[in-house]
Amino acid sequence: MGSVSLKIGDGTARFRRATLCSSALHVVMLVSVLTTNLFALYAFTYAPSSGSSPGAGLQHQILSQEHSKNLSLISEHVSLIVREIESSQKKLTQIERELLGYETLDVSKPNVPPELKLFLGRHPLPLGRDSRTGITEMVSSVGHSCARAVDLLALYMTYKPGGQCPEDASLAQKLVSRGCEPLPRRRCLSKPVAKPGLLPLPESLWKPVSEKIVGKWNGFDRQMWVKPRGKNDFLIDDVLALGGGIRVGFDIGGEAGNFAARMAEKNVTIVSSVLNVGGPVSDFVAARGLFPLFLTAGQRFPFYDSVFDLVHTVNGMDEGSVGVTRPEKMEFFMFDIDRVLRPGGLFWLDNYYCADEKKKAALTALIEKFGYKKLKWVVGEKVDASASGKKVYLSAVLQKPARG
Ligand SMILES: *[C@@H]1O[C@H](CO)[C@@H](O)[C@H](O)[C@H]1NC(C)=O
Ligand SMILES: *[C@@H]1O[C@H](CO)[C@@H](O)[C@H](O)[C@H]1NC(C)=O
Repeated sequence: MGSVSLKIGDGTARFRRATLCSSALHVVMLVSVLTTNLFALYAFTYAPSSGSSPGAGLQHQILSQEHSKNLSLISEHVSLIVREIESSQKKLTQIERELLGYETLDVSKPNVPPELKLFLGRHPLPLGRDSRTGITEMVSSVGHSCARAVDLLALYMTYKPGGQCPEDASLAQKLVSRGCEPLPRRRCLSKPVAKPGLLPLPESLWKPVSEKIVGKWNGFDRQMWVKPRGKNDFLIDDVLALGGGIRVGFDIGGEAGNFAARMAEKNVTIVSSVLNVGGPVSDFVAARGLFPLFLTAGQRFPFYDSVFDLVHTVNGMDEGSVGVTRPEKMEFFMFDIDRVLRPGGLFWLDNYYCADEKKKAALTALIEKFGYKKLKWVVGEKVDASASGKKVYLSAVLQKPARG
């Protein structure tokens, strides 16, 4: 039985690999113990019927002595069997829990909805071990941090299977922002949102979205990346001219999809990570004909290595989303950006707000560790009307090196 221990953040998630083999082994052990003992029992109790013969009295005495000796032996064996059964039962319970494989999320608790148990239950592959992947069973996953929000998760998984889902988008958002990501799948129908007045591309990019879809919410910014407000604002045309062959990109914290829309005008496909914070942002982005990826910054990007020509972020590295106050958190984030970016690809850090000189220095040092080529690097100050005084912003376009 293998045990893999992952150190994640401040908690330790433990996943036990309990194969069907090992549980089968235990069952075989149990059966063999039982049969051995039953044979012994049979041997002890079986006495050949003997006819009466001379000296039967003495023989009888010896026999009854032997008999009582044998009886105590038998009772010893029986109690041994009982103990053996008890310990096997304990082992079976343990195996059951290990088969479910969730040590931090105790799904055996009574208040866990059956839907959650069903979803997390493992399913052996019908044809046994798959030779390509090496797996023997299908495992559904749920974020390990869900264990810290079990009550919310239980609420989320309480619904009528096959019926309408409860209207609980805010509950899902709450769970996701607590790191409970991915969420479990559900067997209920989400409330259909009518999408009237959808336009074809490229008209859809900048035309108002029907109020039936987004209400009064509106996230258009028609100025960014085409009409600079300061030296920290780079033009899309200028950046595209820097690195050849920008076709696919990832906008972390892409909000209303304005960056993706501007890029779409240049025939560049951008996936924007979007949360419905403060409005129906995903609906808005999708209505524009753009790609809203419902994902927090806390999760590993769901993309393979070196797939993007461009990674862009305005707010993606904010205090709350990545936890930049802890330098290691920032490193995890930067390494993941580096991972999904292809060699020669561009990382566009757009108007990154540096709270103080120390923070700027830390970020600069981190970026320099990666050996990116600084194609653009502008540290600017902006007068903030709401806050007192000036704020320092860093904008940069960095090119990933080939490395080796
Ligand atoms: C007692 O057990 C022995 C084997 O240990 C067996 O040969 C004998 O027949 C048994 N006696 C009785 C009375 O069952
Ligand atoms: C985008 O693609 C369309 C269709 O292929 C083409 O007509 C248009 O010129 C392209 N635009 C840019 C900015 O490359």
